[in-house]
Amino acid sequence: MSVHKSKKMITLAAILATGFMYGCSKIETEAEANQEEVAESTSMQESAMPQMSQGSFGFGQSVGAAEIARYDSDIHTDGTGLPEGSGNVTLGREIFEIQCAICHGENLEGVPEMGARTMHEGRRDIKKLPYTSSLFDFIRRAMPLTDPGTLTNDETYGLVAFLLVETGVIDDPNLTLDAESLAAIKMPNRANFIIDPASRFTAEDLEDK
Ligand code: HEC
Repeated sequence: MSVHKSKKMITLAAILATGFMYGCSKIETEAEANQEEVAESTSMQESAMPQMSQGSFGFGQSVGAAEIARYDSDIHTDGTGLPEGSGNVTLGREIFEIQCAICHGENLEGVPEMGARTMHEGRRDIKKLPYTSSLFDFIRRAMPLTDPGTLTNDETYGLVAFLLVETGVIDDPNLTLDAESLAAIKMPNRANFIIDPASRFTAEDLEDK
């Protein structure tokens, strides 16, 4: 190999090496840029969805104490767990007209297009419920359907009072309910419930204590 030729080869090797290095450093720069982009978009996601859980699946939402408190109610059939507060038929009627009638109808007749059937007769008649405490618990936990958990205790007591008077369970247009008076009401249909033989409960559990 001549000196001339080998000089040429060294030059070529140098160019290739430089190019390779340049290429490498370029790839590194792109990778770095990509990492920055990823970091940026992650931080954007974080700021847009601050409550995303850090769990392994990357979806779901962490639930705060206030959110849990909205549903953390444990009301027993004897009234244990009923909250403080009170409400009367007038308050209940007012709330019902504003927040409930759109689905349940002005006279509890139900609005089928909204998915709600009558609460005044048939299988879903309020009168047929065994306990007033279930009515309170259900309304406060689940209604209004589009915004559950937003009713105050007073409003819920008022709604139960209104529904009991409207469906003829109690004949007193001035009925006011609180924890004690609500639990004291004996629903007319209570004795007509039977124990499912497969249930862990016994007839004794249904007795008033
Ligand atoms: C957006 C519609 C909607 C609104 C508003 C709404 N409900 Fe309901 N409610 C329903 C549906 C649907 C059911 C299930 C009814 C069914 O299966 O027939 C239901 C069930 C009930 C039940 C159980 C008895 C039954 O008929 O099954 C009660 C009690 C009740 N709602 C009370 C209320 C009260 C009180 C309000 C207002 C604070 C309210 N609802 C607001 C749609 C609504």
